[in-house]
Amino acid sequence: LLKAILFDLDGVITDTAAYHFKAWSWLAEKYQLQLEPDVETRLKGISRLDSLKIILQENDLPVGYAEEKMEKMCIEKNDYYKKLISMMTPQDILPGIEPFLKEARRADIRIGLASASQNGSYILDKIGLRSCFDTIVDPSLLIKGKPDPEIFIKCAHQLGVPLENCVGIEDAAAGVEAINAAGILSVGIGSDIELKAAQIILPSTQQLKLNIF
Ligand code: BG6
Ligand code: MG
Repeated sequence: LLKAILFDLDGVITDTAAYHFKAWSWLAEKYQLQLEPDVETRLKGISRLDSLKIILQENDLPVGYAEEKMEKMCIEKNDYYKKLISMMTPQDILPGIEPFLKEARRADIRIGLASASQNGSYILDKIGLRSCFDTIVDPSLLIKGKPDPEIFIKCAHQLGVPLENCVGIEDAAAGVEAINAAGILSVGIGSDIELKAAQIILPSTQQLKLNIF
């Protein structure tokens, strides 16, 4: 029996991937780093610091960068990203999400946010969905990021719902892996090649309906 839906944010509720990519591209240019062409897809769901570490590694710069410098770069990336997302409005909600949230609410299903983003609450405020969420996991308190299941387990726990009564919705391979590892029913939104590990795969958020679970 479905009692809770655990949502990823970026790429599921709203499409911020392009903004993240723009901000990483800006930072890469500033520090003369190369970005691999598929980096946008691979960094989906990955925390800010882990994303930077991947970019640095791919530029053969794993050791020259001290923690402090990485922290500074993460802040710079985020400042740039915040400027981009400050323009977001309810028009940026992906299709089908609002009716799906309403359907869930009517069915008395609890709603949680399991996003790696430290900008999660800010974005939900911007797009006017903050009040639809019963809980938001604070990603700064996590020991491990996705694909570790911690964030989804914590989200279910915060809602007081057993894992077997939850479904998790993700657009990233790392996120689907995290949901599966938590023993939660996984729904992938996007490409069935990229998200082949998901138990249910939907081409877009428009197909989200309670009767598919
Ligand atoms: C995830 C995004 O939701 O959040 C990643 O898919 C991002 O691209 C991560 O790096 C962390 O987000 P933020 O907003 O804290 O930099
Ligand atoms: Mg995502």
